Amino acid sequence: MGESQPPNSTATGHVSNKTNPAGLIVREAAPENLEFPFHTLANFITPVEQFFVRNHFAVPPVTAQNWQLRIEGAVEQPLMLTLADLMQMPSQTQVVTLECAGNSRAFLAPPAPGVPWALGAVGNAEWTGVRLATVLEHVGVKASALEIVLEGADQGEVKEEPRPPGQIHYARSLPLAQLQQSPVLLAYAMNGEPLPPAHGFPVRALIPGWYGMASVKWLTRIIVTEQPFQGYFQTADYAYWAQHDGLPPQLVPITNMTVKAEIARPAAHEIVPANSTYRMYGAAWAGAVAIANVDVSSDGGATWQAANLLGEPVDHAWRFWEFFWQTPATSGLYILMARATDATGRTQPLTHNPYHGRYLISHVLPVPVEVVA
Ligand code: MTE
Repeated sequence: MGESQPPNSTATGHVSNKTNPAGLIVREAAPENLEFPFHTLANFITPVEQFFVRNHFAVPPVTAQNWQLRIEGAVEQPLMLTLADLMQMPSQTQVVTLECAGNSRAFLAPPAPGVPWALGAVGNAEWTGVRLATVLEHVGVKASALEIVLEGADQGEVKEEPRPPGQIHYARSLPLAQLQQSPVLLAYAMNGEPLPPAHGFPVRALIPGWYGMASVKWLTRIIVTEQPFQGYFQTADYAYWAQHDGLPPQLVPITNMTVKAEIARPAAHEIVPANSTYRMYGAAWAGAVAIANVDVSSDGGATWQAANLLGEPVDHAWRFWEFFWQTPATSGLYILMARATDATGRTQPLTHNPYHGRYLISHVLPVPVEVVA
């Protein structure tokens, strides 16, 4: 899995190219898994109808009337909230980039199991909701509490072993301490509109700075626990091998996003005129950390030049970048690359870390383009 292939959604041969009416690429029809065609990147805020969709099960039949949120477990006073109750609490709005932990999986060689996302299982939206910390103040979390389990109303059977028998709900946890690290939201609006069904109507969690799997949609139950949660999507799936402190490798749940830049244009195999100025552009993100710089190579990584970062940095959001490429005079295939570095000094690696398996795919992705004189 150490090698990478050029970002071309058709290059791997096992990728569907069907599109839905909004122009999203259908990676799976049921449950619906839709990818944003990254070469169309134009808006800092991704319009709702262009935001990627990642579903493990069918969208559950939740309505504003029948939705309730139960908060239980290691709390002084369990609580049941209606949507009206939640919407009366103090709200806040924040821009957050969500990237699926399996984004760019289509570029792994040999092909890895799972939805074959190319570049577009990522989007940036403006989310409005109530801080999870505010909601927890109403129930009184016990001093012994360690984690918060978030459970969605959607359910189904998982197919990959090891798996529990029968149907399970989508569920994920976060340590209680994470509430001090990032403004975790129970969001009911996306880009100023009620959440659409595909994105978790009426309420989803949002864990800024973490990969998308933690931001549980159709949230109906919050369980405060005194033990680490070991559910399916926490251990068997959405986990990776970590190696530190001289210990043997350990399987740990995926949490923080890492540093990554993607090239929107030129797209893979685009034809670019020779001897001209071409505006390369894309986006870069690093979860809770700011992007420090993006460097670009047009010779397969032999030399690098700084790209311009556009706009002002926004916490937890991607940053757009551009680079005016003086294209060569000679026709031929050229390999473009973009590589981001964040404010803590992390730089994208050139190859995929095999310990990360089919997730956390953040190595530099070469984009082949055809220069034509
Ligand atoms: N929440 C529930 N209840 N069910 C799911 O299948 N998918 C997760 C997360 N929350 C999921 C979920 C994953 S893997 C991702 S990447 C994000 O939702 C995607 O959010 P989106 O579909 O709004 O883009």
